Amino acid sequence: MSDGDISNAREAVLKPSCELPEGTLKIRGYDFNQGVDLQAVMDSFITTGFQASNLGLAFQEINQMIEKRLEPVEEAEGKKTDEDRSKAGCTIFLGYTSNLISSGIRESIRYLAEHKMVDVIVTTAGGIEEDFIKCMSNTYLGDFKLSGKELRLKAINRIGNLLVPNDNYCKFEDWLMPILDQMLLEQNEKGTHWTPSKMINRLGKEINNTESVCYWAYKNNIPVFSPALTDGSLGDILYFHSFKKPGLILDIVEDIRRLNGQAVFAKKTGMIILGGGLVKHHICNANLMRNGADYAVFVNTGQEFDGSDSGANPDEAVSWGKISKDAKPVKVYADATLVFPLIVSQTFATHADKLTGGKKTDRQEKHVSPPPKMLY
Ligand SMILES: NC(=O)c1ccc[n+]([C@@H]2O[C@H](COP(=O)([O-])OP(=O)(O)OC[C@H]3O[C@@H](n4cnc5c(N)ncnc54)[C@H](O)[C@@H]3O)[C@@H](O)[C@H]2O)c1
Repeated sequence: MSDGDISNAREAVLKPSCELPEGTLKIRGYDFNQGVDLQAVMDSFITTGFQASNLGLAFQEINQMIEKRLEPVEEAEGKKTDEDRSKAGCTIFLGYTSNLISSGIRESIRYLAEHKMVDVIVTTAGGIEEDFIKCMSNTYLGDFKLSGKELRLKAINRIGNLLVPNDNYCKFEDWLMPILDQMLLEQNEKGTHWTPSKMINRLGKEINNTESVCYWAYKNNIPVFSPALTDGSLGDILYFHSFKKPGLILDIVEDIRRLNGQAVFAKKTGMIILGGGLVKHHICNANLMRNGADYAVFVNTGQEFDGSDSGANPDEAVSWGKISKDAKPVKVYADATLVFPLIVSQTFATHADKLTGGKKTDRQEKHVSPPPKMLY
């Protein structure tokens, strides 16, 4: 090897760096010599790297939405007065897939609805019905590997590692059928024009249970949209009802006008979308109507290589005008069951007093925190 070869190799290996921009964060994780300080662990995420840093960025992005939301809106600032225009400085859209209501993430979502911390909700049919079903019966922890054949013989349904006895759906049908009868009567006698969001609002009123997301959405006038409301047990029951007493109509056109209006007439908008599919696109598409959301956080496990909307990165939504080109959207690649309670703890729950003006709900006043217990 010649001296020239050695010097080329040295140049390649020891190539000098340019300075990184001022303020670039240094990577440093949590040091457990400081003891177990979960808040400090959370604070260290942003400088930990990979998805921990994305989660730290998501905390920041949502805190910016909250800060904007707390700014009052002057009447003149709205393009026009519209019954669906949010009065908040930033209208926050929350979307989540059905399985998250089956999971314990329902309690985090219920907290947000209970304290009116979000303005618009979009979910799929299971995200509605599982919320009501859980008011009637329980969902249990099982195992991903339980045999489908054996479960079917026992009439136990599996959602991942959760188990839902089929009886739960029978109870749901018993509860829902008379409400559908009443809705049909009101349609025929009073000319009520039902939409999925109006039906969800009515069911939220009827369930009258403070455990329910939809109950609090009804109480706090948070619209819940679910354009594919028939794709679940609700659809099965609507199908059976259509033979028993035909004629009930749900209008999805009125709902799309109402949902898009929430984006069009808002001062600023923020999107928090857990999971992909319909909920992700429905919220993003509404925000296209205003040339893009100002803030966005996606939490999902979808990958973009297959061209799916579920896996599409925020930058793809920027190309469509669904997220503003000036926004700093964040995608966290994670199972939402792991990260959403952390997100709520570092954002909405931290700012609860400001967001609620210190107002407590009946549920909160009755709640006495159990003493902390060591599990391990
Ligand atoms: N409990 C249920 O899951 C349930 C019940 C009844 C009906 N359904 C119906 O099944 C259909 C499909 O459900 P869907 O559209 O709500 O979503 P989905 O379950 O099909 O999920 C869509 C995408 O979201 C992402 N995702 C899902 N769970 C996630 C998680 N825990 N963390 C991060 N990312 C996640 C994944 O990329 C996934 O491909 C719907 O029409 C729904 O009504 C579901």
